[in-house]
Amino acid sequence: MTSPGFARGRRLRSTPALRRLTAQTRLAPADFVLPVFVKQGIDEPVPISSMPGVVQHTLDSLRKAAHEAAEAGIGGLILFGIPSEKDPVGSQADAADGIVNVALQQLRDDLGDELVLMADLCLCEYTDHGHCGVVTPAGIVDNDPTLDRYAAVAIAQAQAGAHVIAPSGMMDGQVAAIRRALDGSGFTETPILAYAAKYASGFYGPFREAAEGAPQFGDRSTYQMDPPNAHEALREVRQDLAEGADAVMVKPALPYLDIVRAVADAVDVPVSAYQVSGEYAMLEAAAANGWVDRQRAILETLTAIRRAGAGTVLTYWAVEAARWLR
Ligand code: PBG
Repeated sequence: MTSPGFARGRRLRSTPALRRLTAQTRLAPADFVLPVFVKQGIDEPVPISSMPGVVQHTLDSLRKAAHEAAEAGIGGLILFGIPSEKDPVGSQADAADGIVNVALQQLRDDLGDELVLMADLCLCEYTDHGHCGVVTPAGIVDNDPTLDRYAAVAIAQAQAGAHVIAPSGMMDGQVAAIRRALDGSGFTETPILAYAAKYASGFYGPFREAAEGAPQFGDRSTYQMDPPNAHEALREVRQDLAEGADAVMVKPALPYLDIVRAVADAVDVPVSAYQVSGEYAMLEAAAANGWVDRQRAILETLTAIRRAGAGTVLTYWAVEAARWLR
């Protein structure tokens, strides 16, 4: 048959070299940001049972992990701190000697500008009630007083050496409050990566073991977004940009690829997506059972998130994936 009435899509798939040449999406180590947990008052790293391969770091083990991450060529780290003492307002989040701020300072001293050091800005790991803001006597997470706390935390994190402040609490007006605080303290050049479209997701389960920040009552559905909503994600993104965000994030990633695509099409700032703890745990569990090919499945999820339009992927596989790509 010389001229069949159909197209031969298989022509460009016939060898690995042709497939490589025609791949529309590529992964590079610099696309990845590694989330890390640093805990006060431990002598050895503590494994997180629901996230095999992930640990709560000591200050020293974190420094070592950060050097390995730099060696692997990833884009950056995002830090989460777990203090020994928690209180209703999350005082340790902005204490100069608070665990996360000490860690930021050490990493910045060690690494300079070699890796982008991001500070997750939230209160849930630091409050005794586990909510992302201050709480009224009636148990409501109180938006506007929380903004004052976020402002103080942003300044503390910038002073400690964070290159990027990443507010994840989903309080209305948080980006404006943080921008104003940073500008007022001489940090006009510190960018804000806003967790702009962050959903109230069941996929954060393992993170709550890792960061020890599970709400002690209720849940986060009065401030994080409702999973059925898509238009609202664009409104949140536009609002955060209007308030001064330099880059925006969608979270989780895999169950929200439609949102990643919609946001990437709508904005002209860098878009990140956070492949969260439950996404990690789900795939690790399946791989441990031999139900999926681990490396292949991980790289496929990372490719899919990039293909949907995210330039940067926050992923617990950042360093491992970066090594595979080298
Ligand atoms: C804190 C925060 C959470 C995550 C990142 N920042 C937990 C939450 O909102 O409940 C989740 C990350 C993950 O699951 O990997 N606000």
